[in-house]
Amino acid sequence: MQFSKRLDAFGEEIFASLNDKRLALEAEGRTIYNLSVGTPDFPPAPHIVDALVNAARKPEMWKYSLRDLPELKQAVCDYYARRFGVEGITPDMVTSVNGTQEGVGLFALAMLDEDDTVLVPDPCYPIFQGGAFIAKAKPYYYKLTAEHGFLPHVADIPDEVADRAKYMIVSLPANPVGSVATPGLYEEIIAFARAHDILIVHDNAYSDIIYDGERGGSFLAHEGALEQGVEFFSLSKSFDVTGARVGFLVGRADVVAAFAKLRGQMSFGMFYPIQMAAIAALTGSLEGVERQRMLYQERRDALCDGLEAIGWERPNAHGTMFVWAKLPGGRTDSLAFCEELMERAGVVVTPGASFGPSGEGYVRMALVLPPEGLRAAVEAIRAAGI
Ligand SMILES: Cc1ncc(COP(=O)(O)O)c(C=O)c1O
Repeated sequence: MQFSKRLDAFGEEIFASLNDKRLALEAEGRTIYNLSVGTPDFPPAPHIVDALVNAARKPEMWKYSLRDLPELKQAVCDYYARRFGVEGITPDMVTSVNGTQEGVGLFALAMLDEDDTVLVPDPCYPIFQGGAFIAKAKPYYYKLTAEHGFLPHVADIPDEVADRAKYMIVSLPANPVGSVATPGLYEEIIAFARAHDILIVHDNAYSDIIYDGERGGSFLAHEGALEQGVEFFSLSKSFDVTGARVGFLVGRADVVAAFAKLRGQMSFGMFYPIQMAAIAALTGSLEGVERQRMLYQERRDALCDGLEAIGWERPNAHGTMFVWAKLPGGRTDSLAFCEELMERAGVVVTPGASFGPSGEGYVRMALVLPPEGLRAAVEAIRAAGI
């Protein structure tokens, strides 16, 4: 059987061995602190669950939805005004997607032809380059390095690359590197995109997980953004609904229509009870979201303070549910370090190299345990002499 050459772009799962080791250690009864997962451990708010359950009791809610409910699109428009201060989003500028992960892959198919260039961050959330591979396009990796605060530095992108690029993916707060946008950064990116006729695709997955008094926002709030870009807006992390698969593409109506045309070939729409849950999330109280942000910050502090106290360099951790830690003790091989950390301390983290070449030398740790669990994980690392 000859499978599509498309699959050749996706290597073997080199981290399967890490997973097998973790399962073996768990089977031995070892205490394991699993900080490798990116799924929040917080429950969704009751009003969101109720909306889904109540809808699911009605037979008509089980039919093909085929479209986004007008109330859902309006709820997104209103949320953009209420939460992000972005006025002027109209329903034709909104379409639902079964999560940003799937959205970014489909977006590539809607926008790219073979050998087109797309600018993606390195290190990056893997679907950013995966989407390009699925579309047989070519990712150009722009680096997020400590030198520039792990932020996009468009001046480093050569003109000839920028001139042929179709779109640029930007995502802040950034998984895995934990950086957040600084004042003027988006304006700089928008000016660069305008000069080279590039569309900006902003992935806004962590607008509500941001620390030290910063307030997360939307890329679309910045001057010129509505002409130059679109935004994937996910409910997954803000509202703890990762399994429901609910997000939106928001912004330029022509781009949203092209995306919806492609998606419509493959999807009969979002399950109505999930649409009802999304409406409840978007129109309901955001107090719980704010409380959760503070709980994440306590976790961030517990982990970063602890690692610093045992001699690690303080990790980069200004936003997202992750911290990005440099390997301690002059180590350079992130995969080997993850194996060592798991075997000696029972702490499971993700090797930086799995997010791209610039991730080598780092590990990503997820804030998925309460502060006391994270302190216990740090103590296990200390006791193991790492
Ligand atoms: C940067 C980024 N984008 C998107 C996602 C996935 O979002 P969704 O659940 O909407 O597919 C994640 C999840 O970890 C992420 O880190």
